Amino acid sequence: MALSLLLSGLCLAPYVSAQAFDATEREEGAFSYVQPLNTTILTQYGSSPAVLPSPNATGFGGWEAALARAQAFVAQLTLEEKADMVTGQPGPCVGNIVAVPRLGFQGLCLQDGPLAIRVADYASTFSAGVSAAATWDKAIMYERGMAMGEEFKAKGAHIALAPVCGPLGRSAYSGRNWEGFSPDPYLTGVAMEETITGLQDAGVQATAKHFIGNEQETQRNPTYDPNGTLTDVIQEAISANIDDRTIHELYLWPFANAVHAKVSSVMCSYQRLNGSYACENSKVQNGLLKEELGFQGYVMSDWGGTHSGVASIEGGLDMDMPGGIGTYGLYPQSGSFFGGNVTSAVNNGTVPISRIDDMIVRIMTPYYWLGQDQNFPTVDPSGADLNTFSPRKTWLREFNLTGPSSRDVRDNHGELIRKHGAAGTVLLKNTNGALPLKAPKSIAVFGNDAGDDTQGFYNQVDFEYGTLTAGGGSGTGRLTYLITPLAAIKERAAKDNALVQQWLNNTLIINSNITDLWIPALPEVCIVFLKTWAEEAADRQHLSVDWDGNEVVQSVAKDCNNTIVVTHSSGINTLPFADHPNVTAILAAHYPGQESGYSIVDLLYGDVNPSGKLPYTIALNGTDYNAPPTTAVNTTGKDDWQSWFEEKLEIDYRYFDAQNISVRYEFGFGLSYTTFEIANLQAAPIDDAITSAAAEQPTAPGGNPELWASVYNVTLSLTNTGDVDGATVPQLYVSFPTDTTPAGTPPKQLRGFEKVHLTVGECQTVVFELMRRDLSYWDIISQQWLIPEGEFTLSAGFSSRDLKAFTSITPVKA
Ligand SMILES: *[C@@H]1O[C@H](CO)[C@@H](O)[C@H](O)[C@H]1NC(C)=O
Ligand SMILES: *[C@@H]1O[C@H](CO)[C@@H](O)[C@H](O)[C@H]1NC(C)=O
Ligand SMILES: *[C@@H]1O[C@H](CO)[C@@H](O)[C@H](O)[C@H]1NC(C)=O
Ligand SMILES: *[C@@H]1O[C@H](CO)[C@@H](O)[C@H](O)[C@H]1NC(C)=O
Ligand SMILES: *[C@@H]1O[C@H](CO)[C@@H](O)[C@H](O)[C@H]1NC(C)=O
Ligand SMILES: *[C@@H]1O[C@H](CO)[C@@H](O)[C@H](O)[C@H]1NC(C)=O
Ligand SMILES: *[C@@H]1O[C@H](CO)[C@@H](O)[C@H](O)[C@H]1NC(C)=O
Ligand SMILES: *[C@@H]1O[C@H](CO)[C@@H](O)[C@H](O)[C@H]1NC(C)=O
Ligand SMILES: *[C@@H]1O[C@H](CO)[C@@H](O)[C@H](O)[C@H]1NC(C)=O
Ligand SMILES: *[C@@H]1O[C@H](CO)[C@@H](O)[C@H](O)[C@H]1NC(C)=O
Ligand SMILES: *[C@@H]1O[C@H](CO)[C@@H](O)[C@H](O)[C@H]1NC(C)=O
Ligand SMILES: *[C@@H]1O[C@H](CO)[C@@H](O)[C@H](O)[C@H]1NC(C)=O
Repeated sequence: MALSLLLSGLCLAPYVSAQAFDATEREEGAFSYVQPLNTTILTQYGSSPAVLPSPNATGFGGWEAALARAQAFVAQLTLEEKADMVTGQPGPCVGNIVAVPRLGFQGLCLQDGPLAIRVADYASTFSAGVSAAATWDKAIMYERGMAMGEEFKAKGAHIALAPVCGPLGRSAYSGRNWEGFSPDPYLTGVAMEETITGLQDAGVQATAKHFIGNEQETQRNPTYDPNGTLTDVIQEAISANIDDRTIHELYLWPFANAVHAKVSSVMCSYQRLNGSYACENSKVQNGLLKEELGFQGYVMSDWGGTHSGVASIEGGLDMDMPGGIGTYGLYPQSGSFFGGNVTSAVNNGTVPISRIDDMIVRIMTPYYWLGQDQNFPTVDPSGADLNTFSPRKTWLREFNLTGPSSRDVRDNHGELIRKHGAAGTVLLKNTNGALPLKAPKSIAVFGNDAGDDTQGFYNQVDFEYGTLTAGGGSGTGRLTYLITPLAAIKERAAKDNALVQQWLNNTLIINSNITDLWIPALPEVCIVFLKTWAEEAADRQHLSVDWDGNEVVQSVAKDCNNTIVVTHSSGINTLPFADHPNVTAILAAHYPGQESGYSIVDLLYGDVNPSGKLPYTIALNGTDYNAPPTTAVNTTGKDDWQSWFEEKLEIDYRYFDAQNISVRYEFGFGLSYTTFEIANLQAAPIDDAITSAAAEQPTAPGGNPELWASVYNVTLSLTNTGDVDGATVPQLYVSFPTDTTPAGTPPKQLRGFEKVHLTVGECQTVVFELMRRDLSYWDIISQQWLIPEGEFTLSAGFSSRDLKAFTSITPVKA
């Protein structure tokens, strides 16, 4: 969802005049990409064929009993109550469906977001999606989802607006990548399944968002005439124009995992998709989601993402958020295309009542399936006063706010967050035995990211002083406490009676000779904390660290031969100081959550052995990345914001590998304090006769169940060859046969990973199961997944460019 000021800030500046795209304009600090208007491409795939009508839910795949209860509930509703059930109302939560007291239904409370229940007090701020991805640890992904789910439920939220797999991370610059996981669809797909299962095992409905093609923030919403109404648009939102194969193999892939994990709802995205708004796009909502993937839950709109009534309902949208009627909205427009319009559209015969019934059946089936009708906690009244999105004065209906206020739902989650933050930190460089620290007696701490936040704990701006634990927008969290790196270092160093000195003013550090600052002599270690902000509704301007962090490192490293750099960042930073001989170690700590300081100190002192791996590629230069966001158009036509995904499958490592471009740190990379060896990669088919196409089966959640069936068992042996215990992530990459797979297939693609803990000298056999989907490409002619004939190469290693063992398989013989 959107935050008002950010949103209007963007929307009020529609006419950007800029020069045509040129590589040099993408230099760090001067980022701009004007997408030329190309009508040839627009007619090629800038359209979405209608897929009508919207299919009824059947509950097939395990929701049959819950669906029957939902149908019985719907049968008792009046038409006005039905309109209420599909339309949000301003109320205590970020999204609200009003109660139907005569049926004992207490309404639905929808709350942000992907790393915390945002509108709440006494709740935890967990690590961000990018940190969870960097753990490459399925158990942590699940545990994090479960713990978050417990907090949502205890605060009375039925529906968590999480997790995120759109943006996937097409562009390194996209402002919301950190909310999601990784530009690799396989890694993100696994993270989606684990997070959703965790949230829903805790009894809370998960929402996979944003469906689909939400790969940039710039012009994600239309530019409205500020003096006009709901329909007075000056320029429409950007259209993400994506071809059929690319949408299947990249952007739909993790949504398929989400549906496979029985996600309750899917949030459609703000922007247009191949020409029509995502929330009314029948091809993606009815066609891809409900038919092809067999999705049995409901589609809700992103906040203000609905642009029509009847067309959206027919196009597969089931719930309008935030809905409401009146002027409470934060948007230039007000009112809802649903609400009373649903009643009139049924009454005048435009929309069949069966479609409205299906919308509500879809909404209520997960509710019954998760037992939310049984003793579900009330909405914590304290949330209502923290909710700036729909404050009390905007409410049009009554809400029953009972039960204790300001419930503390944090439990022992701080301990988990400490562990998750460390596990999501990637050790990128470690020379001269810099890490782990060996009880240093003199430590100097530098940088404005080391200490306490001077502008409060609710991160909504990129304040200068204070460590960053999350980005901004609806995906942020409200900290109840924060362990800063500086505080945690002081606490730990006190055990060694060490001297700890600090300089937190970046400007001062840059303008000083460091030797003039410290006493009495060169510290044993200089630790520099740097940060990078990113937020909803804005794309990143550059891939550097913020607040002149590169200069801070230069200034410190000039005089300190043991400079350790830690970044707290939304993700990709180009790290130009990486080769500096005095920069002895670099840790990418991402957005670790409330225990940030303890998480990093555990790693610095070796209490925890680093095992995080990069869930993205760090290029040598920001200009090296493919697929920048479209930051401007220089024409004023209503439809002129277009973004062609012409790079197709070539994003992140798929691109760097296909074009053979050198990178600084490749996808999957991350160091440990110990060493590991991989050997003996073997693959055995589970079935002797593997066909190219999957056998036809009734569509279940996730699509044809055959796609999820294992077809190969792959094993390797992994040994800890170093002298400390630790964990690593053997990664399995698949290379398709080049002559039988369509052009444009990436040289290799991640298709398996496991986080494995090994004691010194221990050896384990690691097993990967390759599913049919893992060996298939999407065939645009026959409209199905096919395994090509011929020989595949399987490679296993410690990163996408550190491959240690190989084997080949031929699943389908010619
Ligand atoms: C911008 O407009 C000029 C004409 O004013 C045109 O020549 C140029 O190609 C346009 N650039 C893009 C990227 O559309
Ligand atoms: C428009 O796109 C087509 C297809 O990719 C390409 O061949 C053509 O050169 C493009 N035209 C312009 C003016 O960029
Ligand atoms: C959905 O079910 C209703 C009645 O059960 C039926 O009238 C309607 O045609 C069905 N819609 C579709 C799209 O199959
Ligand atoms: C909106 O109205 C104000 C006041 O009349 C006017 O100054 C402004 O130009 C108008 N904006 C647009 C985009 O029409
Ligand atoms: C119906 O939709 C229009 C937008 O087309 C909106 O302005 C109006 O408030 C809605 N009416 C009701 C009763 O919800
Ligand atoms: C029926 O009602 C809907 C919602 O108010 C409206 O959009 C549509 O134009 C109406 N159709 C007719 C034929 O009156
Ligand atoms: C208000 O909520 C409480 C707690 O769930 C419930 O017992 C009570 O019946 C509700 N009141 C109404 C009017 O629904
Ligand atoms: C930071 O240092 C600069 C340069 O010495 C100084 O101008 C500025 O006032 C300092 N900021 C704070 C908050 O002390
Ligand atoms: C830093 O030291 C150098 C060499 O001694 C000197 O030229 C320079 O002025 C000093 N800079 C500051 C800011 O003190
Ligand atoms: C590294 O640090 C030492 C001081 O410890 C300094 O003498 C040396 O010049 C530095 N090297 C570089 C390349 O800055
Ligand atoms: C840094 O320099 C000091 C003094 O020359 C030396 O004792 C120390 O070993 C050096 N440290 C590293 C990490 O090179
Ligand atoms: C990055 O690439 C741009 C364009 O090729 C070049 O001008 C710039 O110097 C490069 N920057 C670095 C740090 O290599």
